[in-house]
Amino acid sequence: MQKNITARYPSNIALVKYWGKYGNQLPCNPSVSLTLQKAFTETKLRISEKREKGTAVAFFFEGKPKKDFGERMLRFLKAQPEFAGLLTNFSIVVDTHNSFPHSAGIASSASAFAAITAAFLKASQTEITDFKQKASSLARLGSGSACRSFYGPFSLWGKLTEIQGSSDQFAVPLLDIHPDFRSMRDTILIVEDAPKKVSSSAGHALMNNHPYADARFKDAVKHCGELISALKHGDFSSFISITEREALSLHAMMMTSKEYYLLMRPQTVQIIEQVFQFRQETQLPLCFTLDAGSSVHLLYPASIQEQVQGFWANGTDKGIKSFIEDESGLGGMII
Ligand code: DP6
Repeated sequence: MQKNITARYPSNIALVKYWGKYGNQLPCNPSVSLTLQKAFTETKLRISEKREKGTAVAFFFEGKPKKDFGERMLRFLKAQPEFAGLLTNFSIVVDTHNSFPHSAGIASSASAFAAITAAFLKASQTEITDFKQKASSLARLGSGSACRSFYGPFSLWGKLTEIQGSSDQFAVPLLDIHPDFRSMRDTILIVEDAPKKVSSSAGHALMNNHPYADARFKDAVKHCGELISALKHGDFSSFISITEREALSLHAMMMTSKEYYLLMRPQTVQIIEQVFQFRQETQLPLCFTLDAGSSVHLLYPASIQEQVQGFWANGTDKGIKSFIEDESGLGGMII
């Protein structure tokens, strides 16, 4: 017997940032994200009868074995009782590939853990009343941001009084979205090819005993409420100020932690200033966000795509190495 399952799940970009965690992968503050569409991970499981004793899972990333990736995935899978039956009784080959290049400023752990969780959950054939919620809750244990990739175009992870059913354990979709926000673009401007300097886990840990932690967590709660209201009312002005302030707050936390570090490059700052200038000159709702890296995510509604295109078309003068054009999506699927 051989059974194949393929899961394709997207990455997401946080607008209100998750930065700081406690307990078993629980967030110190709620976060809101935009789900991407073209930046996804595809994970294929080839499941067959197991002959040998012990766990038999082989991991391939982009067609090749990749030790650290395989070890992290296996640790995650083994820690979930839901997957114990599969791991005990079957031999599994896991083939994973990303639609986007490595170190592109796209959270690959978000799409990777969303895809592997969905694939294993589907394969485990347990009775599940809400597949997405269960998958979101499990994927969170692999990488926090992964739990937001199951819904789109916007999702919320973390308990927020305004949103019924929201939880620190899993993400929920934001359902009340103004038509103007239903079709968003995210153009990612890549300014360096270097891999991540500091892992997210190490970064989160630096929020323990951070002098500004309490103020940061309170600010994020407030920003989630305000952003959700902006998304509901089609309020681009609030959307822009919250999103940009969040991006800069995330980097401010990194710059002021005990072991401080700086991820923005001169080109990052230059692009940010050009976004401000573009907005002042055109009055168009273009804004930026940053992940834990030097790449700049340009966010704007699809309706102004043509006007914004000129902004990065001549990228060399901004020091842009390459760019990826993505857009909001509705989450992943088993294909
Ligand atoms: C800056 O989800 O990568 O992208 O839970 O340790 O895997 P782990 O962290 P991760 O952290 C993401 C941090 C962020 C902001 C965000 O996505 O909310």
